Amino acid sequence: MQIQTPKRTLITTEDGSHSIYVPELNEHYHSTHGAIQESNHVFIEAGLKEILKSKRSISIFEMGFGTGLNAFLTLIYSLEHDIDIQYTAIEAFPVEEELLNKLNYGEIINEGAFENYFMNLHSAEWEQWNHLHENFQFIKHKVSLLDFKSDDKFDLVYFDAFAPNVQPELWTTEIFQKIYNSMNSGGVLVTYCCKEHEIGWFFD
Ligand SMILES: C[S@@+](CC[C@H](N)C(=O)[O-])C[C@H]1O[C@@H](n2cnc3c(N)ncnc32)[C@H](O)[C@@H]1O
Repeated sequence: MQIQTPKRTLITTEDGSHSIYVPELNEHYHSTHGAIQESNHVFIEAGLKEILKSKRSISIFEMGFGTGLNAFLTLIYSLEHDIDIQYTAIEAFPVEEELLNKLNYGEIINEGAFENYFMNLHSAEWEQWNHLHENFQFIKHKVSLLDFKSDDKFDLVYFDAFAPNVQPELWTTEIFQKIYNSMNSGGVLVTYCCKEHEIGWFFD
Protein backbone atom coordinates (compact mmCIF):
# COMPACT_ATOMS: atom_id res chain seq x y z
CA MET A 1 0.00 0.00 0.00
CA GLN A 2 1.28 3.47 -0.92
CA ILE A 3 1.72 5.57 2.23
CA GLN A 4 1.80 9.37 1.99
CA THR A 5 2.32 11.37 5.14
CA PRO A 6 -0.05 14.35 5.43
CA LYS A 7 1.07 17.85 6.47
CA ARG A 8 0.52 18.49 10.19
CA THR A 9 0.64 21.43 12.59
CA LEU A 10 0.82 21.72 16.37
CA ILE A 11 -2.12 23.22 18.27
CA THR A 12 -2.84 23.86 21.94
CA THR A 13 -6.12 22.45 23.27
CA GLU A 14 -8.27 23.95 26.01
CA ASP A 15 -6.63 22.03 28.87
CA GLY A 16 -3.23 23.42 27.81
CA SER A 17 -2.00 20.18 26.26
CA HIS A 18 -0.88 20.02 22.66
CA SER A 19 -2.45 18.15 19.80
CA ILE A 20 -1.90 17.90 16.06
CA TYR A 21 -4.07 19.24 13.26
CA VAL A 22 -4.17 17.75 9.76
CA PRO A 23 -5.39 20.52 7.42
CA GLU A 24 -6.09 18.32 4.41
CA LEU A 25 -8.44 16.15 6.48
CA ASN A 26 -9.64 19.00 8.71
CA GLU A 27 -9.08 16.58 11.61
CA HIS A 28 -7.40 16.91 15.00
CA TYR A 29 -5.61 14.05 16.74
CA HIS A 30 -7.58 14.81 19.91
CA SER A 31 -10.53 16.80 21.14
CA THR A 32 -9.79 20.52 20.98
CA HIS A 33 -11.41 20.76 24.43
CA GLY A 34 -8.40 18.97 25.89
CA ALA A 35 -6.08 16.28 24.55
CA ILE A 36 -4.98 14.92 27.93
CA GLN A 37 -8.50 15.24 29.28
CA GLU A 38 -9.91 13.21 26.37
CA SER A 39 -7.24 10.55 26.51
CA ASN A 40 -7.76 10.10 30.25
CA HIS A 41 -11.53 10.01 29.94
CA VAL A 42 -11.85 7.65 26.97
CA PHE A 43 -8.83 5.39 27.11
CA ILE A 44 -7.72 5.31 30.74
CA GLU A 45 -11.03 5.68 32.57
CA ALA A 46 -13.36 3.76 30.23
CA GLY A 47 -10.80 1.28 28.87
CA LEU A 48 -7.82 0.60 31.09
CA LYS A 49 -9.62 0.85 34.43
CA GLU A 50 -12.48 -1.30 33.13
CA ILE A 51 -10.27 -4.21 32.01
CA LEU A 52 -8.26 -3.98 35.22
CA LYS A 53 -11.37 -4.90 37.18
CA SER A 54 -10.82 -8.49 35.99
CA LYS A 55 -7.04 -8.73 35.23
CA ARG A 56 -3.75 -7.36 36.58
CA SER A 57 -1.56 -8.34 33.65
CA ILE A 58 -2.86 -7.28 30.26
CA SER A 59 -2.05 -6.86 26.59
CA ILE A 60 -3.15 -3.72 24.77
CA PHE A 61 -3.46 -2.96 21.07
CA GLU A 62 -3.56 0.65 19.91
CA MET A 63 -4.73 1.55 16.45
CA GLY A 64 -3.06 4.90 15.65
CA PHE A 65 -0.06 5.57 17.94
CA GLY A 66 0.28 9.20 16.74
CA THR A 67 1.65 11.47 19.46
CA GLY A 68 1.98 8.53 21.85
CA LEU A 69 -0.27 10.23 24.42
CA ASN A 70 -2.43 7.16 25.10
CA ALA A 71 0.63 4.95 25.46
CA PHE A 72 2.29 7.51 27.75
CA LEU A 73 -0.69 7.77 30.11
CA THR A 74 -0.99 3.97 30.12
CA LEU A 75 2.71 3.57 30.92
CA ILE A 76 2.44 6.02 33.83
CA TYR A 77 -0.60 4.14 35.13
CA SER A 78 1.28 0.84 34.95
CA LEU A 79 4.15 2.29 37.00
CA GLU A 80 1.96 3.92 39.60
CA HIS A 81 -0.24 0.84 40.08
CA ASP A 82 2.30 -1.92 39.52
CA ILE A 83 0.42 -3.50 36.61
CA ASP A 84 2.08 -5.53 33.85
CA ILE A 85 1.31 -4.30 30.39
CA GLN A 86 2.32 -5.53 26.94
CA TYR A 87 1.54 -2.68 24.59
CA THR A 88 1.35 -3.08 20.80
CA ALA A 89 0.79 0.03 18.72
CA ILE A 90 0.47 0.51 14.99
CA GLU A 91 0.91 3.73 13.08
CA ALA A 92 0.74 4.25 9.32
CA PHE A 93 2.02 7.84 9.34
CA PRO A 94 4.53 8.35 12.19
CA VAL A 95 4.75 11.91 13.47
CA GLU A 96 7.96 13.64 12.40
CA GLU A 97 10.65 14.18 15.07
CA GLU A 98 10.47 17.97 14.83
CA LEU A 99 6.81 17.93 15.91
CA LEU A 100 7.31 15.21 18.53
CA ASN A 101 10.01 17.28 20.22
CA LYS A 102 7.57 20.17 20.67
CA LEU A 103 4.79 18.15 22.33
CA ASN A 104 4.33 19.25 25.94
CA TYR A 105 2.91 16.02 27.48
CA GLY A 106 6.19 15.05 29.12
CA GLU A 107 6.50 18.46 30.80
CA ILE A 108 2.95 18.96 32.00
CA ILE A 109 1.93 15.49 33.19
CA ASN A 110 2.99 14.91 36.80
CA GLU A 111 5.22 18.00 36.51
CA GLY A 112 7.67 16.28 34.23
CA ALA A 113 8.33 13.32 36.52
CA PHE A 114 7.93 10.86 33.66
CA GLU A 115 9.25 12.94 30.76
CA ASN A 116 11.98 10.45 29.93
CA TYR A 117 9.42 7.72 29.39
CA PHE A 118 7.64 9.88 26.83
CA MET A 119 10.84 10.27 24.87
CA ASN A 120 11.58 6.54 25.26
CA LEU A 121 8.26 5.64 23.63
CA HIS A 122 9.28 7.66 20.61
CA SER A 123 12.92 6.62 20.44
CA ALA A 124 11.99 2.93 20.85
CA GLU A 125 12.89 0.74 17.88
CA TRP A 126 10.08 -0.06 15.50
CA GLU A 127 9.15 -3.71 14.83
CA GLN A 128 10.75 -5.09 18.00
CA TRP A 129 9.83 -5.43 21.65
CA ASN A 130 11.23 -2.69 23.88
CA HIS A 131 11.54 -3.09 27.63
CA LEU A 132 10.62 0.44 28.78
CA HIS A 133 10.09 -0.50 32.39
CA GLU A 134 9.76 -3.63 34.48
CA ASN A 135 5.98 -3.24 34.07
CA PHE A 136 5.80 -2.07 30.49
CA GLN A 137 6.81 -3.93 27.32
CA PHE A 138 6.27 -2.01 24.11
CA ILE A 139 6.27 -2.69 20.38
CA LYS A 140 5.26 -0.36 17.58
CA HIS A 141 4.72 -1.29 13.97
CA LYS A 142 4.80 1.08 11.04
CA VAL A 143 1.88 -0.37 9.13
CA SER A 144 -1.69 0.38 8.14
CA LEU A 145 -4.42 -1.40 10.03
CA LEU A 146 -5.61 -2.67 6.67
CA ASP A 147 -2.38 -4.67 6.30
CA PHE A 148 -1.62 -5.47 9.95
CA LYS A 149 -1.46 -9.15 10.89
CA SER A 150 -0.59 -10.59 14.28
CA ASP A 151 -1.00 -13.86 16.13
CA ASP A 152 -1.10 -12.00 19.45
CA LYS A 153 -4.30 -11.73 21.44
CA PHE A 154 -5.31 -8.52 23.19
CA ASP A 155 -7.34 -7.75 26.32
CA LEU A 156 -7.86 -4.09 25.56
CA VAL A 157 -8.07 -2.21 22.26
CA TYR A 158 -7.64 1.54 21.90
CA PHE A 159 -9.26 2.20 18.53
CA ASP A 160 -8.09 5.77 17.92
CA ALA A 161 -8.73 6.34 14.22
CA PHE A 162 -9.88 9.54 12.55
CA ALA A 163 -13.62 9.95 12.05
CA PRO A 164 -15.57 7.67 9.68
CA ASN A 165 -16.25 10.46 7.20
CA VAL A 166 -12.49 10.83 6.54
CA GLN A 167 -11.49 7.18 7.04
CA PRO A 168 -14.54 5.08 6.11
CA GLU A 169 -12.27 2.14 5.24
CA LEU A 170 -11.37 1.73 8.96
CA TRP A 171 -14.93 1.76 10.26
CA THR A 172 -16.21 -1.37 8.54
CA THR A 173 -17.66 -4.62 9.82
CA GLU A 174 -14.62 -6.46 8.37
CA ILE A 175 -12.18 -4.31 10.37
CA PHE A 176 -14.09 -4.72 13.63
CA GLN A 177 -14.45 -8.46 12.99
CA LYS A 178 -10.67 -8.67 12.46
CA ILE A 179 -10.06 -6.80 15.73
CA TYR A 180 -12.64 -8.91 17.57
CA ASN A 181 -10.87 -12.07 16.36
CA SER A 182 -7.61 -10.78 17.85
CA MET A 183 -9.11 -10.20 21.31
CA ASN A 184 -9.18 -12.40 24.36
CA SER A 185 -12.52 -13.40 25.80
CA GLY A 186 -13.85 -10.61 28.07
CA GLY A 187 -11.81 -8.02 26.21
CA VAL A 188 -12.69 -4.34 25.99
CA LEU A 189 -12.54 -1.98 22.99
CA VAL A 190 -12.71 1.77 23.49
CA THR A 191 -12.96 4.44 20.85
CA TYR A 192 -14.14 7.98 20.37
CA CYS A 193 -15.67 9.58 17.37
CA CYS A 194 -17.67 12.70 16.81
CA LYS A 195 -19.80 13.20 13.74
CA GLU A 196 -21.70 16.37 13.09
CA HIS A 197 -25.14 16.31 11.51
CA GLU A 198 -26.80 19.17 9.78
CA ILE A 199 -30.31 19.67 10.98
CA GLY A 200 -32.77 20.98 8.43
CA TRP A 201 -35.99 22.78 9.28
CA PHE A 202 -38.86 22.46 6.89
CA PHE A 203 -41.90 24.72 6.91
CA ASP A 204 -45.04 24.29 4.86
C1 LIG B 1 -7.08 10.49 15.84
S1 LIG B 1 -5.32 10.24 15.57
C2 LIG B 1 -4.94 9.55 17.15
C3 LIG B 1 -3.48 9.47 17.44
C4 LIG B 1 -2.98 8.98 18.78
N1 LIG B 1 -3.71 7.92 19.40
C5 LIG B 1 -2.63 10.11 19.71
O1 LIG B 1 -3.09 10.10 20.85
O2 LIG B 1 -1.90 10.98 19.30
C6 LIG B 1 -5.36 8.85 14.43
C7 LIG B 1 -4.02 8.21 14.19
O3 LIG B 1 -4.20 7.06 13.33
C8 LIG B 1 -3.18 7.06 12.35
N2 LIG B 1 -3.68 6.31 11.19
C9 LIG B 1 -4.48 6.79 10.21
N3 LIG B 1 -4.79 5.80 9.35
C10 LIG B 1 -4.18 4.68 9.79
C11 LIG B 1 -4.14 3.34 9.32
N4 LIG B 1 -4.80 2.98 8.21
N5 LIG B 1 -3.44 2.44 10.01
C12 LIG B 1 -2.74 2.83 11.14
N6 LIG B 1 -2.74 4.09 11.62
C13 LIG B 1 -3.46 5.01 10.97
C14 LIG B 1 -2.93 8.53 12.09
O4 LIG B 1 -1.69 8.75 11.47
C15 LIG B 1 -3.02 9.10 13.49
O5 LIG B 1 -1.79 9.00 14.14
